[in-house]
Amino acid sequence: MSDSFSFSPAARQFALQAAAAMLVLSVAWPYYGWQAAALPWAETSYAIGCVGFAFATLSRQPWWWRLIHLLFLPAVWFTHQLQIDPGWFLAAFILLLLVYRGALSGQVPLYLSNRETVAALAELLEQRAGSGSLRFVDLGAGIGSTVITLADHLPQVHCRGVENAPLTWLIGRLLAVGRPNLQWQWEDLWQVDLGQHDVVYAFLSPAPMPQLWEKALREMAPGSLLVSNSFPVPGVVPSRVIEVPCLPARPLYCYEMPGA
Ligand SMILES: C[S@@+](CC[C@H](N)C(=O)[O-])C[C@H]1O[C@@H](n2cnc3c(N)ncnc32)[C@H](O)[C@@H]1O
Repeated sequence: MSDSFSFSPAARQFALQAAAAMLVLSVAWPYYGWQAAALPWAETSYAIGCVGFAFATLSRQPWWWRLIHLLFLPAVWFTHQLQIDPGWFLAAFILLLLVYRGALSGQVPLYLSNRETVAALAELLEQRAGSGSLRFVDLGAGIGSTVITLADHLPQVHCRGVENAPLTWLIGRLLAVGRPNLQWQWEDLWQVDLGQHDVVYAFLSPAPMPQLWEKALREMAPGSLLVSNSFPVPGVVPSRVIEVPCLPARPLYCYEMPGA
């Protein structure tokens, strides 16, 4: 099938819910219209939820998508009954966009590396820096909690944090001030030249890992290290896996660039 017919996961779910709504409305509208009666919106929303659930089950969507399809329109109807000022929804949407822009554009939401992981990273960087210096970048640096801690503990490491969600970037900007070995940037991670760094750290999601690996192979110097928190590169054997002592498990998959 050509690329023009392949949908993103979000577009696929939207199409599924829209198909359920169209099916129910195409039956309900003529039925109630014929009797000159008003459409019962509550029951219609339940029916669309049930049909959406059936479509999602038939097309083998994961269980949480089935649940979302079942509950989405009934929840919209219920919320509508509360008669909340639409301005609140707009405000909530803008706030979510400011924080979760990455989830919308690249399936990478915000969640932070835990303390144990940052400690394991610090140990790894210290080993690799030895008595020299080292350049480190956190791709999608959130509010800077990882990169700021590393910059504070490892003055010999030049740390860089790259983030493109406006609010998290701003929080990081404020938290990062006054650190000469830390560069905090508003930048798309796909625009970063990975070749400038000895260790590249990513805590993203499974979705971008194949593309990130291709970028790393193209740009990173032989012997430099790509470290991915929790999400391995599919089909590539890591040169090392650091089992971080925490729950849930958050292994660090380390990939040394070939050709050293
Ligand atoms: C899972 S969080 C990791 C945060 C931080 N690295 C940590 O380990 O605590 C992923 C971050 O990547 C950011 N992000 C997603 N896509 C991005 C992109 N294209 N460019 C820059 N940052 C991005 C998200 O906004 C989010 O803050």
